[in-house]
Amino acid sequence: MKILVTGSNGQLGNELRNVLEKAMPGVTTYTDIAELDLTDAAAVDMFLERGEYTHIVNCAAYTAVDKAESDQTLCYSINYDAVRNIAVAASKHGVKVVHISTDYVFDGTSCHPYRESDKVNPTSAYGTSKRKGEMVLLSLCPEAVILRTAWLYSPYGHNFVKTMLKLGRERAELRVVCDQIGTPTAAKDLAEMIVTVISARQWVPGIYHFSDEGACSWYDFTKSIHRIAGIDSCKVVPVTTDDYPTAAVRPAYSVLDKSLIKRTYGVEIPHWEESLAECLTRIVDID
Ligand SMILES: NC(=O)c1ccc[n+]([C@@H]2O[C@H](COP(=O)([O-])OP(=O)(O)OC[C@H]3O[C@@H](n4cnc5c(N)ncnc54)[C@H](OP(=O)(O)O)[C@@H]3O)[C@@H](O)[C@H]2O)c1
Repeated sequence: MKILVTGSNGQLGNELRNVLEKAMPGVTTYTDIAELDLTDAAAVDMFLERGEYTHIVNCAAYTAVDKAESDQTLCYSINYDAVRNIAVAASKHGVKVVHISTDYVFDGTSCHPYRESDKVNPTSAYGTSKRKGEMVLLSLCPEAVILRTAWLYSPYGHNFVKTMLKLGRERAELRVVCDQIGTPTAAKDLAEMIVTVISARQWVPGIYHFSDEGACSWYDFTKSIHRIAGIDSCKVVPVTTDDYPTAAVRPAYSVLDKSLIKRTYGVEIPHWEESLAECLTRIVDID
């Protein structure tokens, strides 16, 4: 087995490196834009041809959800063009693809956790670009595995957990949206799932939903972050999406149904609060 990880300086890329180097040390090449710019089709083709990889895990993406609304060209070039380049080269060189997508392909009007077969209807440029990435990958590379995930955080880069820790320590009061429901997901848990997919006896292509267990609002999430981190000097005030307008329209409800991935791979998934507590100990260690 020879694995290529792209976007390896991001949250998921860093966690995947930690997990892969423990589970199967020395078989993976880690790249980010400096080593392999995925928007360069010729470079992607050459990399896969020379590397003789068995698997590529694409952790690269344009993930600035609000900025994407006014930066659509760059967003599409990374979330669509780059994915097309990977799909073309992977299918030509017989490389298995694991790609990551998002709960933001849904519009949030469901009243049950979203299944893989549910109708997509993204409400933002980011969500639309990720859906187009899914479609081009599956059309050129039908053997690919796509994992749709949600609300990722980790000790690396910028994310909601680190922002709420910082603001919680600096401010006396924080207003946080309480009417968007989803599931916080530790990037480490997704990284472990990816390694399970790669090392499974059977390769089962298709789209799978993966997040941590449970559901909450951004407000609930913030309260838990502060409680576990021992921050009690900041009052967290629940507000509605209408009170806190953002450039991108986010789904009001984007909880994912994980039955398919649990059944296919026989995995148990931790509850988001359990993984949050574990991650917070590491954020203190790394910062
Ligand atoms: N973050 C979330 O809450 C969330 C939620 C649902 C799904 N997801 C999906 O989960 C995956 C991982 O997200 P993440 O939070 O780990 O992302 P991230 O931290 O933003 O990392 C993405 C990485 O890709 C790199 N990159 C950008 N353009 C590239 C290019 N042309 N060629 C190669 N690398 C490039 C970025 O470099 P720069 O930093 O220099 O741009 C960055 O290192 C993505 O597919 C994302 O859409 C994320």
